[in-house]
Amino acid sequence: MNILIQGGGRGIGMALAQRALAAGATRLFITARDPLAAPAYDMLAPDDRVTFLPLDVTDEASIMATGARIAGAVPQLDRVICTAGMLQQGDIRPEKRVADLKQDNLLHLYRVNALGPVLLARELWPLLKGDHRLHFAAISARVGSISDNRLGGWYAYRASKAALNQLMRTLSVELARANPNGCVATLHPGTVDTNLSKPFQGGVPAGKLFTANHAAGCLWQVLDRLGPGDTGQLHAWDGSVIPY
Ligand SMILES: NC(=O)c1ccc[n+]([C@@H]2O[C@H](COP(=O)([O-])OP(=O)(O)OC[C@H]3O[C@@H](n4cnc5c(N)ncnc54)[C@H](OP(=O)(O)O)[C@@H]3O)[C@@H](O)[C@H]2O)c1
Repeated sequence: MNILIQGGGRGIGMALAQRALAAGATRLFITARDPLAAPAYDMLAPDDRVTFLPLDVTDEASIMATGARIAGAVPQLDRVICTAGMLQQGDIRPEKRVADLKQDNLLHLYRVNALGPVLLARELWPLLKGDHRLHFAAISARVGSISDNRLGGWYAYRASKAALNQLMRTLSVELARANPNGCVATLHPGTVDTNLSKPFQGGVPAGKLFTANHAAGCLWQVLDRLGPGDTGQLHAWDGSVIPY
């Protein structure tokens, strides 16, 4: 299996990269904005099957360059999991009320959380089409479900993940014509102990905070069970489908 973990340098992505190797990947591409600085680098780079590549999802030239490197190395991809995501950074904080909204912040989260996977799919299209079994997935979040939104708040994060779901759903329709054995999925990993969730773990009930390894194992198994008939949906870590 040729596998790409976009954002595999840390957090859930790093655990997914380890899972990919354990599952018998023949080639594993791992991207990070600065691969040499990624926690996964020292651990996984010595493996002959692993290639680290730089990728910033907010930089289209970077997406094109990395897509071209992968397309030059393998004729097809069997599993792609895009993990890049952010909730807060520097002055950007999840909004509690409409008065907190800032246009730049809304647009920045959209660029980081929503756009990467489909732009990467555009660059990798020749490796996705055909008739081989393929999973093309992106980590979304339950809070991106519009029908599940009863608490409010977190405008930019919710909206960017909802946009990710819609973009991936649209991709699923097109990919079904280009590869009848392909499956496009967005995934909710549960609440996972990573840098992203650290500031918000206080209210998480005991036993509901997953390690990255546990979440990655669950998501990997969910993908193993998905086929072309399941394409275009948002799946939780336990395999349940979350309505958009
Ligand atoms: N943790 C949770 O409880 C939770 C819950 C629901 C959904 N999620 C989702 O799970 C995914 C993984 O998050 P995590 O929990 O593993 O958090 P994390 O440890 O903070 O990892 C964030 C990942 O996003 C990447 N990233 C951020 N900005 C990027 C950019 N501009 N270009 C490329 N990559 C970028 C990081 O790559 P670098 O190595 O380059 O920094 C890193 O791989 C995210 O999409 C997040 O929204 C997490």
